[in-house]
Amino acid sequence: MFVAPSVLALSFDNFNEELQAVNNNAKYLHFDVMDGHFVPNLSFGPDILKQIRRNSSLFMDVHLMVSDPLYFSDIFAQAGADGITFHYEAYNDINKCIEVIDHIHSLYLKAGISINPDTKPEEIEALLPYVDLVLVMSVQPGFGGQAFKEESYDKLKYFRNLKSSRRYNYLIEVDGGVSDRNARDLVIAGADILVAGSYVFKGDIESNIKSLTMKK
Ligand code: DX5
Ligand code: ZN
Repeated sequence: MFVAPSVLALSFDNFNEELQAVNNNAKYLHFDVMDGHFVPNLSFGPDILKQIRRNSSLFMDVHLMVSDPLYFSDIFAQAGADGITFHYEAYNDINKCIEVIDHIHSLYLKAGISINPDTKPEEIEALLPYVDLVLVMSVQPGFGGQAFKEESYDKLKYFRNLKSSRRYNYLIEVDGGVSDRNARDLVIAGADILVAGSYVFKGDIESNIKSLTMKK
């Protein structure tokens, strides 16, 4: 399993130092994009990703919390994304989502689909053969530092079970309220990648990342 520290919780006071600590201890960097429309918050534009890209060779895991993923996928692909994950709820339409997944693949990037806490995992079953990553939101998207929603375990298990019974290839990622208290259970339930913001950047980054990295 991998830890994907979330840039949302990285401090701009100690930007270089904190990014360096992440570079030395993680393989993924999670980059949240919010448009103030799909979620009631704004985060980062492409220039920030470009700046980070110049200072990091980690896998740039871009999480689009936006109403128009097709438009933003081009912009963040150009800025240095390695993978782009968007929300099913941006369209609530399987065919439209497949179009976006194909588009992300045409940019030679990994394509992920995410669901909000209120969305049932069955709703995206038809997308599972096409994606490289499934992102289970374990908080309402839009803000860091929220409490983990316990019902997320069942969703992880659902995606893990279908992955093994149907031999799908996607990785399973969980985002929101991840800490050393739930990391082990999340991995047991099926998570391959743990996104963590406030937990990683409070205190010692290296030991925080290590405390989330456990063997199954
Ligand atoms: C929330 C973002 C998360 C956020 C997680 O909408 O998608 O990536 O950074 O923050 P924590 O780990 O603090 O819940
Ligand atoms: Zn995120």
